[in-house]
Amino acid sequence: MTQSKVSLYYKNVTSDIIGAEHGISKQQFASLADKLNKIIIKENVERNDGKTGYRDLPYNDLISSSVTKMAASVKGIENFVVLGIGGSALGNIALQTALNPYMYNIDSKQRKGPRLFVFDNVDPDQLASFLDWIADKLDKTMFNVISKSGRTAETASQFLTIWQMLNDRFPGKLADHVIATTDPKEGTLRNIANAEKLRTLEVPAGVGGRFSVLSAVGLLSAAVCGIDIDKLLAGARTMDQRVSYEDFYQNPAAINAAVNWHCYNAGKRISVMMPYSYSLKDMSDWYRQLWAESLGKAKDLNGSDLYVGPTPVKALGATDQHSQVQLYREGPNDKLYTFLQVKEFKKSVKVGSNPDYAPELDYLNGIQMADLFNSEKLGTEFALVQNHRPCMTVLFDKVDEFTVGQFIYLFEVTTSFAGKLFNLNTYDQPAVELGKEATFAVMGRPGYEDLAKKIKPIAEMDKNFII
Ligand code: PA5
Repeated sequence: MTQSKVSLYYKNVTSDIIGAEHGISKQQFASLADKLNKIIIKENVERNDGKTGYRDLPYNDLISSSVTKMAASVKGIENFVVLGIGGSALGNIALQTALNPYMYNIDSKQRKGPRLFVFDNVDPDQLASFLDWIADKLDKTMFNVISKSGRTAETASQFLTIWQMLNDRFPGKLADHVIATTDPKEGTLRNIANAEKLRTLEVPAGVGGRFSVLSAVGLLSAAVCGIDIDKLLAGARTMDQRVSYEDFYQNPAAINAAVNWHCYNAGKRISVMMPYSYSLKDMSDWYRQLWAESLGKAKDLNGSDLYVGPTPVKALGATDQHSQVQLYREGPNDKLYTFLQVKEFKKSVKVGSNPDYAPELDYLNGIQMADLFNSEKLGTEFALVQNHRPCMTVLFDKVDEFTVGQFIYLFEVTTSFAGKLFNLNTYDQPAVELGKEATFAVMGRPGYEDLAKKIKPIAEMDKNFII
């Protein structure tokens, strides 16, 4: 049986299709190949030296077996609630949307596990509504708090709120209702887990949040909800072979990174990911964080000013054809479009027949909705290409664990290659830290008094500027 695959189609970025001014010529591809061939070799060496921890996750049997065991231990619960943010939530959401049915939480017949909720915010309206609903279901609910550091204000405040609720209801029994996924050795959450004797899984050392979806961070909620994590990891391993090829033209991550980097330098500073698949809609959100936090940097590797970063934008086909495509076609030619397209959908829907008095709808009578969906993608791509806009397509044979694993790994390695092209540190996020620390200062956390003073002029709203 042939296995489902993810492929990259990039003809519609070439100068043959969109013209010399905006497209990439054969000579330009040849020079990109020279650059990327060196980068692939360097990346492979660094990977073998253990410098890119995320690349080894699909091979780590310890992770998959501990996750599988933990998932089995919560069998029978009705609600699984993830508390996390950023890299500790976006992958969980993306996997669930991609691999479980749309009505999963609502329709018990459509699910193979508990309902899944992922909270990645501190909006009291949102959380209070959930807390009201869950209050009488706590005995059948498991919370998975995910935080590498444990000091992230959003996750910590959610966790403390839940903790109090659980303590009021089941005094001293926190361990029956909470699994902590955190740093193996240190940090606030690790200390709490040790003190409260919580069951734990590890955020592996050397793997940043946005590269951690294929670790216990993303895998536990997936496994609990019936997603086959072994197939997911197998997909990632298959893609690992392809993105390790030391030949630019055989390596989809190298081509992807090269096209993105070239387009950025040619003034296409915005990178739009537009799935024509609801299942893949949250993959764009996951990609946005990966791309933005990894490639938006002020300094290069030598510490010189750089200020680069493609701005990732998510759109959804066909919905956003009726919202964004006017801009995409006629606005500034400053975007690269990456469509996600599915050849074979999980389900089929046949469109109903039209009444005789509406013959203009004949063309829809009895057709497969998937054909309309993919025709809309083609129509949009054609329209963009007419206006010389560069377009790529990531083609999924189907959306299953095996292809989703391939997709995740493809974009992670693409990000690593792109970081090397931009000559920056792909794996840090210094600019996120200041915002986190400023929150501590505003909230009066000891040790942040100096920062609090600096924030004061911003905090005190000037009445002259309020209308
Ligand atoms: O990619 C990252 O490193 C961030 O998005 C983190 O995942 C996010 O800030 C949450 O951090 P933590 O897991 O320490 O709570």
